[in-house]
Amino acid sequence: MRRGELDHAQLRASLRALPEAQLEAWVDARWGPAEAAHPDAPLPRGSVPYLPCPAATVLYALERTQVAADQVFVDLGSGLGRVAFMARLLTGAGAMGVELQADLVRESQRRADALELPHLRFIEGDASRLAERLALASVFFMYCPFSGEPLRRVQAALQGHARRRQSWLCCVDMPRLQIEGFESVHSERPELDLYRSRSRRG
Ligand SMILES: C[S@@+](CC[C@H](N)C(=O)[O-])C[C@H]1O[C@@H](n2cnc3c(N)ncnc32)[C@H](O)[C@@H]1O
Repeated sequence: MRRGELDHAQLRASLRALPEAQLEAWVDARWGPAEAAHPDAPLPRGSVPYLPCPAATVLYALERTQVAADQVFVDLGSGLGRVAFMARLLTGAGAMGVELQADLVRESQRRADALELPHLRFIEGDASRLAERLALASVFFMYCPFSGEPLRRVQAALQGHARRRQSWLCCVDMPRLQIEGFESVHSERPELDLYRSRSRRG
């Protein structure tokens, strides 16, 4: 995997062929919990603590949205980074995670650096405030990182974003969202809602 010498489509196909429990174990062995991280840090009201998204859900989202190597994928509330890692390694896209908990960011970036993978970055910050600045992103992912006001801020940011760039939004275990400029797209996984911006601009 080092330095991105990898056939992304081949790796995706191999993982797709695994039963879900084995896929989960494969991903967990690489990007599972770490002793160094303290996922129980206090979080602001409305924020959800760290819990990794099921690997099968992430794989399905990556395939359904057809994330491509020339795109940028962002996980809002990235925890220990497994979603961004999977996006980077399984599609070749640039991937970024935004996470509030500094320990989780440090550990994610340490793992990314160990793989010597370019275009995989983790930044510390409030994803609901940074979303509007992520102008290059075309696929946004959220595994229920927050609700209430932070979620409303993200929705407003994506609304503006969709006017400038064609984008996808993948939401796991979240209420159905209404975002101007986005339409709902069929998902075969009940936990995953998919939205695509109506604008067809690149
Ligand atoms: C349910 S976990 C999902 C983690 C990751 N997306 C995954 O699937 O492996 C939600 C994460 O969002 C983070 N979070 C909550 N509020 C946040 C905020 N306002 N900005 C950035 N991260 C936030 C939490 O610290 C937690 O790590």
